Amino acid sequence: MQDTANIAVLVSGGGTNLQAILDASAKGDIPHGQVCVVISDRSDAYALERARKSGIPAFEINKKACSSQKVFEEKLTECLSEHGTDMIVLAGFLSILTADFTARYKRRIINIHPSLIPSFCGAGYYGLRVHEAALSRGVKVTGATVHYVNEIPDGGEIIAQKAVDVLPGDTPEVLQRRVMEQAEWILLPKCVEYVCQEIVRQ
Ligand code: GAR
Repeated sequence: MQDTANIAVLVSGGGTNLQAILDASAKGDIPHGQVCVVISDRSDAYALERARKSGIPAFEINKKACSSQKVFEEKLTECLSEHGTDMIVLAGFLSILTADFTARYKRRIINIHPSLIPSFCGAGYYGLRVHEAALSRGVKVTGATVHYVNEIPDGGEIIAQKAVDVLPGDTPEVLQRRVMEQAEWILLPKCVEYVCQEIVRQ
């Protein structure tokens, strides 16, 4: 039985959720796992910088430069295997993964989504767009969800959710920040530890 699980974090953007995982890990809050690699599907992701600053191997697999989704997922799989990956965290990773890929990591891929699923989720709902949709609909409560990843975008089993109030005068940017601070950065490291525990107990 292994003591800790190797975590790969997949990113596309600023990487504040990656940072929350790295900070939690540094504080000893993820005792059953360690981040072994960070992979971005875009070259300009600041998340890569954050990984390198923490001494974590960081790679870009530029999806646009791949001739097909199959080639992209092959490169991804190769990099994940090279780093002995046990679990994958999608932390603001905006590429869709096929059923072929997700089936190989059943209950070992988790995603953070910035709303209370099933609201404002699925294809086309990512980043600020989610908060724009919540504000347009006039909901008074939103939040974040961590779920297992399967072949349906945002459709896998829910692991945890946290509610956040929408306040008068919120802009999408203000709401996004509140959801990150009050929900995402707290929920995601806890769920990472939970799934790592499940893996090492198997
Ligand atoms: C986060 O709010 C995350 O929940 C969201 O993108 C942002 C990435 O920020 N993910 C999605 O919308 C996925 N559908 P970060 O790069 O600073 O962590």
